[in-house]
Parts: sequence; C-alpha cells; structure tokens
Amino acid sequence: METVVKYVKENIDNYLEELKEYLRIPSVSALPEYKEDIKKCSEFVAGKLKAAGMKKVKIFKTDKHPLVYGEWLGAKDKPTVLIYGHYDVQPADPIELWKSQPFEPEIRNGKIYARGANDNKGQNFVHIKAVEAIMKNSGGLPLNVKFLIEGEEEIGSPSLETFLKNKENKKLLKCDAVLISDTSLYAKGVPTLNYGLRGLAYMEIELTGPNRDLHSGSFGGAFANPINELAKLISKLHDKNGRVTIPNFYKDVQKAAKFEKDNFKKLKFDEAKFAREYGVKELYGEKGYSTLERLWTRPTLDCNGIYGGYTEEGAKTVLPSKATAKISMRLVPNQDMKTIVKEFTKHVKSLTPNSVKIKVREMHGGAPVVIPIEHRAIRAAARATSRAFGKETVFTREGGSIPIVVEFMKELKSPVILMGLGLDSENIHSPNEHFHLDSFKKGLLSSVYFFEEYSK
Ligand code: BES
Ligand code: MN
Repeated sequence: METVVKYVKENIDNYLEELKEYLRIPSVSALPEYKEDIKKCSEFVAGKLKAAGMKKVKIFKTDKHPLVYGEWLGAKDKPTVLIYGHYDVQPADPIELWKSQPFEPEIRNGKIYARGANDNKGQNFVHIKAVEAIMKNSGGLPLNVKFLIEGEEEIGSPSLETFLKNKENKKLLKCDAVLISDTSLYAKGVPTLNYGLRGLAYMEIELTGPNRDLHSGSFGGAFANPINELAKLISKLHDKNGRVTIPNFYKDVQKAAKFEKDNFKKLKFDEAKFAREYGVKELYGEKGYSTLERLWTRPTLDCNGIYGGYTEEGAKTVLPSKATAKISMRLVPNQDMKTIVKEFTKHVKSLTPNSVKIKVREMHGGAPVVIPIEHRAIRAAARATSRAFGKETVFTREGGSIPIVVEFMKELKSPVILMGLGLDSENIHSPNEHFHLDSFKKGLLSSVYFFEEYSK
C-alpha cells in the first residue's frame, strides 16, 4: 500500500484536472434542457471506470437518466464492496450569487468551486481514483468492487429504486457492504462515519380564493386572500415550543439511544459558533433538545418556497387568486412516510377555512435510517479513515437524506458505510458550492486504506 499512497500523493494535481472536466458537465437532473449533458456525463463516468480497470462497464438506460455500472471481481474469497454515488447535480440558480461560474470549476484558497464539487462528483471521484491507483500499482484489488453511479439522486432516485427491485439486477449488485461518500465530515480534518440519515416527505399545498386575480381595492375586504390564509396556515404548523402540530407526528419517533447521547456530548458541538457562522443571533428549534439532537434525531417541518400574487418590481394592487407553498418534513426512525403524508394532508385541510380551497400534492420522499455500526465493514472503514486523517474516527448522524440507502439495506441485505467527506459549510444546493482539497486528498487515502483494512 505504501507505493499506492505515494502514487496517489504524486498524482493529486492530475486527479484535480480530471475532476474539473467532470465538473464542467452541467448534469442537472431536475431540468429537461440538460438531458444531453446528463447523457454526456454518464459516458464520462463510464470512461473513468474503464480507465480505472473496471470490467463489464455498462450504461443502463432508464425511464429518465442513465445508470453507470462497472465491476472488478478478481479477488477470490474476498468480500465485495458496492460503491455508490451520483453524477447528477442540483440546479445552479441563483447564478448571479456565484463568485465564479458554477460549471467553470475554479480552485481558490485550497477549495475547488463548482456545482457538484462536493455533492457528489468530488466525493465519488475519490473512490474511482483510489481504485485506479491500487489497480495500476498492484495489478489487482484486495477486494471485489462494483461501482454504481446514478443520475437521478437529486430528484429522488426513481429509476434506481425500480432497478433494485428486479431479481437479476439484485444479483448484479449483490455485495457484502455498500460504500457511499455523499455526506459530511463532523468538522474539517475530523474523520467521520455517519450512521444515520433523516427521511423526507415533500409536499406542495395550493390555496385558491376567488376564481381570478382581483383589484385589491374593489374586492379587498370581501374575499379571503389566499396568501394571507396560507401564511396563517403555515404559522399554525408549529406551536410555541417549536413542535410540529400535526396529530401523531411524533408518535413513532425513536428516542436517541444512551450511547448516542453520550456520543453527542463527546462531540462538544459549539452552538454559539454555529449561529455566528450562519449570521444569526440565536438558533431555533424544538424546546428540550440540543442542536445535534434536533438535527439528527428529531423530525422537522420547513417551508421551502412560497409564492403567489405580484412579486415583480414596483407595486401592483392585486388580490391574488392563488398561493402555493412547498413544505418538506425531515423524518426519523420509525416514522412512516405514508402515515405522515396522510396526517399532514388531514391536518392542513382541517386548518383551511371555507373561504378558500386547498389542493395537497405529495412530491418525493424517502425513508429515514439508522445503521448498526458493529459490522466488520464499518469497523474497517473506521480504521481506514483514522489512518488517513491521523485522528480517531467519530460517528455522527446526518440531517440530510439519501433515500436509496434504506433500499440498499432492504433489497441487498448489506450494511451501508457512509464515509462522509463533505463539510456542511460547503454550500451544497446553494451558490458557491465547493469541496476542500484537503478532504479530497484524505478521502483518496481513506478509500485506499479501506481496501486494505476490509480485506484483512
Ligand atoms: N448528498 C445529499 C444528502 C446529504 C446532504 C446528506 C448533507 C447529508 C448531509 C443528497 O445528494 C441530497 O441532497 N439529498 C436530498 C434528497 C432528496 C432530493 C430526495 C436531500 O437531502 O434533500
Ligand atoms: Mn444533494
């Protein structure tokens, strides 16, 4: 492994050049106008898997965006690891807030800036290059490896979910452990494995008042204004203790285990610094819980967008016909998505006065997960990240969601290693997304060491 490590360190600059190429492809999965770029990106990934020495590299067409697969199964009697990642990215808007162009990667102050630099191109590229480095220097790998890099993660992985349910595909993806880097380090330079993700239920509600926009002078006072009503409704979704008011919302919530509470204390989270970093005087959340508990073990409800009426420059006197809000709920074990969606729908309907009509639409979602950390593969990953970062690995949960993780556990019956390499401060889904070069480098070493540790 020493030659591999030396080789990786010598080649970092080449890897970064290749990563830039990857980042130049605007593979936005949510917007139809990027369909060709998505296709191009899947071909780029397939090419990199081939260059890394993978066999049977294949691009699977789906109803939406292609899945890329590649394998190397030459390590007889050794475990098989499935490395998952996504090559699709979130839309880049608002473009005007980017300091450099989202699809023109730029390195500044030890960070690489571009949409997807962290989420997830930078993080999955780490494993492709680590595997390539081992292959080139030892002519093989100490483990069997399968890569699966998809193009729909940011829109809820609809095709992969279907793909996984097929018997033949399940055989194709059969493995002893799944390795994913699509989450965060606890802090810069701190090796981290994540053992939990929140789930998600994403809803849209639309209120309709009068059957057309009206003059707010001639009609204001006689009709309910859907924007006013929507604001009232949203304000009723939390109580004064920051708790969600939906009936039965907390009924199935699992309490944090004793070892977790101790662990959270050990992590010594600095709440004041957190508030300062994001420009607020005070944090907000459910009473009775620490910030880490709120982020990792408690469900939440947040408005993601709200629109209606006149929002252009200047003033227009109008009593609008419609108002819409997009609302997401982050879920934790053992909340059931379907039940939550039902309770939410019932609740918002009950809060709607007769003066307006309500339409409730379910968008995407995913189940929450907590992963047992005793598995051999997870222990090997903890040793690997400790070696790479030169520190003891910490275990954290995440507030974000990767819906496919639960499906992997269910369909493949394999543990999932969440080897987060990003930082929460790296602006994913936001302007000026970036990835620390230090994390990129230590990620490469973590991956190399993982192959050694898990093959022992
Ligand atoms: N990489 C993120 C998930 C993530 C972010 C986990 C930060 C932990 C910390 C992933 O690509 C993502 O954004 N997922 C979506 C899921 C949704 C689109 C179904 C999310 O969490 O909003
Ligand atoms: Mn994302």
